Amino acid sequence: MQLYERASTVPTHSYQRQDWQGGYESLKTEYDYWIDDIEGQIPPELQGTLFRNGPGLLDVNGNAIHHPFDGDGMISAIAFHNGRAHFRNRFVRTAAFVEEQQAGKILYRGVFGTQKPGGWLANAFDLRLKNIANTNVVYWGGKLLALWEAADPHRLDPATLETLGKDSLNGVLADGEAFAAHPRIDPRCNQDDGAPCMVNFSIKPGLSSTITIFELDPAGNVIRQHAHNVPGFAFIHDFAITENYCIFFQNPIAFNPIPFVFGLRGAGECIKFQPNQPTRIVVIPRHKSRQMQILETQSGFVFHHANAFEQGEEIFIDSICYESFPEVEAGSDFKQVDFDALQPGQMWRFHVNLQQQTVLRALIEPRCCEFPTMHPEKVGRPCRYLYMGAAHANTGNAPLQAILKADLETGHRQLWSAAPRGFVSEPIFVERPHGEGEDDGWILALVYDATHHRSDVVILDARNFEQGAIARLHLKHHIPYGLHGSFTPELFIPAY
Ligand SMILES: [Fe+2]
Repeated sequence: MQLYERASTVPTHSYQRQDWQGGYESLKTEYDYWIDDIEGQIPPELQGTLFRNGPGLLDVNGNAIHHPFDGDGMISAIAFHNGRAHFRNRFVRTAAFVEEQQAGKILYRGVFGTQKPGGWLANAFDLRLKNIANTNVVYWGGKLLALWEAADPHRLDPATLETLGKDSLNGVLADGEAFAAHPRIDPRCNQDDGAPCMVNFSIKPGLSSTITIFELDPAGNVIRQHAHNVPGFAFIHDFAITENYCIFFQNPIAFNPIPFVFGLRGAGECIKFQPNQPTRIVVIPRHKSRQMQILETQSGFVFHHANAFEQGEEIFIDSICYESFPEVEAGSDFKQVDFDALQPGQMWRFHVNLQQQTVLRALIEPRCCEFPTMHPEKVGRPCRYLYMGAAHANTGNAPLQAILKADLETGHRQLWSAAPRGFVSEPIFVERPHGEGEDDGWILALVYDATHHRSDVVILDARNFEQGAIARLHLKHHIPYGLHGSFTPELFIPAY
């Protein structure tokens, strides 16, 4: 592994910024092909479909959007069958995407600062939300759903990725009603005789905020739904579940909507981190009859949780925590971000005692990391292994270039790095059929390769990262850095 030479006055980096920037070019073409440029071998037992979502367009007809979170959702599907793999990508045809593509210009403001052309006058009092369907994609109840947390899901054909329209979860969601982008699948729900269920939530933020919990059975029907009011503004992207609880971290945030209303800033740029306020941990029982509890811990900001589990009246939550919210500055260019000036996200374990109303926390992974994942059978239970995107270097803040495997039992770590010219996305763990042990399976990840300006689908043996990738599938193009995705053992290959 070659790193750049160390110079005494220049910080040593495992990456060059312009390499990283290449992964933020729009991908305007929709592809459909069998992948034939492969290093190594795709394990023949690996069967199923990996779906990924993320912003595919970073511009609208040459007009740059202000932040990747404002980019139109594009779904990629990589289907694995008998040692071969098929690739397909399609944009989610949201109403606003279709309108903007026809008009050839930006017609909607983005939550993270994208403005319509014409300055603040053209943007003032336009409070419409553009549902961009860009954050996650999940196959559940026979439906493929593209998710964006502030509005309703879009349903897609899992084989063709054609957009079928917005989905109300069989009439449960009103038009435009929020449904978060971070469902958790409880593999053995104790309220459903051990059947799996999908748990998700929605947030209605305000002076006090409403958190609604949804639980869906394997057929996709909402079988439990309950709403809870929490004091104060809530900006909550993710949550964690245990067998009996949903756990939310209410980050200490103040929201001043005035610059948004007057067309000066996006709503997401009106958020101010409150370092002197505590983070609130909201514990909502999944059984409707029990009471919500709110506890406090040190100030910090959490986007993503890895997992949570219970031991009696105690709950343990592993979360990636930032010292403060990386605020989006109006007028700044996200591609010029100074990684060294920002605090890294680090994995912390929070230990909540519901009886004593106490919260303790401990740093369990100091390396800069994001996008944690794990064996799906361990969701909500004690798990031994976590996998996450990580920086190549073990200290400081940097783009994600490596995949880290953390053994929480022994403290052992394994790192697979794509540095200096590779940049990773969220890893996904896929269990080997009839596998033995929690790490018997594969890690699948899209890796942007700046050398060839293309992306690879990388397959690692989850038991042993150190032997290197067991396969690298070279795509014919790059895929802009994505957000989240999921794997289903169901196979979706065209005309199959
Ligand atoms: Fe997320």
